[in-house]
Amino acid sequence: MNTQPIGIFDSGIGGTSIFKEIHAFLPHENTIYLADSKNAPYGQKTKEEIIALSIKNTELLLEKNCKLIVVACNTATTNAIKILRDTYNVPFIGIEPAIKPAALNTKTKTIGILATKGTLSSELFHNTTDVYTNSIKILEQVGEGIVLLIEAGKANSVEMKALLETYIKPMIIADIDYLVLGCTHYPYIIPTLLELLPKHVKIIDSGLAVAKQTKSILEQYELLNSSARIPENIFYSNSNVAVLESVLEGKFKVSHLGF
Ligand code: DGL
Repeated sequence: MNTQPIGIFDSGIGGTSIFKEIHAFLPHENTIYLADSKNAPYGQKTKEEIIALSIKNTELLLEKNCKLIVVACNTATTNAIKILRDTYNVPFIGIEPAIKPAALNTKTKTIGILATKGTLSSELFHNTTDVYTNSIKILEQVGEGIVLLIEAGKANSVEMKALLETYIKPMIIADIDYLVLGCTHYPYIIPTLLELLPKHVKIIDSGLAVAKQTKSILEQYELLNSSARIPENIFYSNSNVAVLESVLEGKFKVSHLGF
């Protein structure tokens, strides 16, 4: 049982930022990653559409015998994880914007959050935000267009810089000291964000927290891989194999799969 793979899915290549954290933290685990790039971005879709896509991805990973599923997508987590947990009999790990550490540590009492429309409009996001941000000003910004540029291999391009400038400028004027990245694609735009943000603004994402949580749940269910064999890390994309390979820096092979 414990040699079964961890399943990971995202609307595209963004969840590889989570895969990398998991792989560094749990190097002995077998993994299967699904990039549903054909249907990206999820962030502009309705809750019902996001749930249907999340079910499709989950069922494919379960057919491939996964022991635990990481929903490496804030949009899918905030809209669909409850239904997934209620429907399937494996543990699910989700990812949500790291509002809590930003809210607890901000000195200017002002934080920015960049995420998809689907995440920012979700009930789960609002419930979390309401708990931690009583006396804090939050600037919520929908990152429209960012995922599409990243999926096109233009994570740190001139177009990206121009787009991000429009999103970040109002946050700088409002004096944020934390910027929360609420989408697993966004770690790939950190180089451009660093060019735009004042030095004192800290960028935070939830990748490491997800890896730690994955380990702790595997321990709890006694599912850690104890085999001494070299693990397999398998990647499937239903659209742009080359861009997925490039964010993996050529370290892993990617196969095309229709799903
Ligand atoms: N990586 C997804 C997330 O974390 C991207 C969403 C999208 O496809 O719009 O929200």
